Amino acid sequence: MKLIRTTSYEELSQQAAAEIISRIQSNHRLNLGLATGSTPTGVYKQLIEDHKKNKTSYKEINTFNLDEYIGIAKKDPHSYHYFMCENLFHHIDIPLDQTHIPDGTAKDLKEECLRYEQFIQEHGGIDLQILGIGQNGHIGFNEPGTPFDSRTHIIMLAESTRKANSRFFDSLEEVPKQAITMGIASIMASMEIFLLVSGTSKAEALARLMNGAVSEQFPASVLKKHPNVTIFADNEAAALL
Ligand code: PGA
Repeated sequence: MKLIRTTSYEELSQQAAAEIISRIQSNHRLNLGLATGSTPTGVYKQLIEDHKKNKTSYKEINTFNLDEYIGIAKKDPHSYHYFMCENLFHHIDIPLDQTHIPDGTAKDLKEECLRYEQFIQEHGGIDLQILGIGQNGHIGFNEPGTPFDSRTHIIMLAESTRKANSRFFDSLEEVPKQAITMGIASIMASMEIFLLVSGTSKAEALARLMNGAVSEQFPASVLKKHPNVTIFADNEAAALL
């Protein structure tokens, strides 16, 4: 794993965005794996700014999001569909039918997991996957204990994850208890991975990732086994290294 330390969240976002843009410039048909949450929003702002200024085009790009809440409709402002439209898709020239996110309202959720996994593979797999990390080490919504050989699946969210995400909802009760997430093996199948880590609340997780053992109890640790991972961490996140 290659670690890039930046002095601020702004710089982290700029540097990661610059690398993503260079991958798009060398492959106009890049399959780009995307993440939600607070951390990637700065990168998405940079991509939008660059699209407006430099006309980087997403017309032939396909995107694949990591996860979606179960039971939340696409149009609901709490859905990750909505989040991605607001924070990225509506501001660049990507055709919406080339943006892919698991459907958390599918009638048959197990079937939806299989469909999503196969769909990614039929598209040739993910070239570059953007990831955040949970304080408990989750990647996507793969909570501690998720098998490393897991593919897209249904997960019970950890209470700590529901609490962390309750900031986006009116109350903790409203936060869904389950989600569909790409599995750990699905993520590891990406050709390249960018892990974005920002803020003091992630410092312990980053230190454990860099210094700890590879274990299913700390899902992000699997990234040590991937040949092409770059970690972008700001000074606050890197404080315990
Ligand atoms: P955050 O979420 O970017 O909102 O901190 C990351 C995660 O939980 O994976």
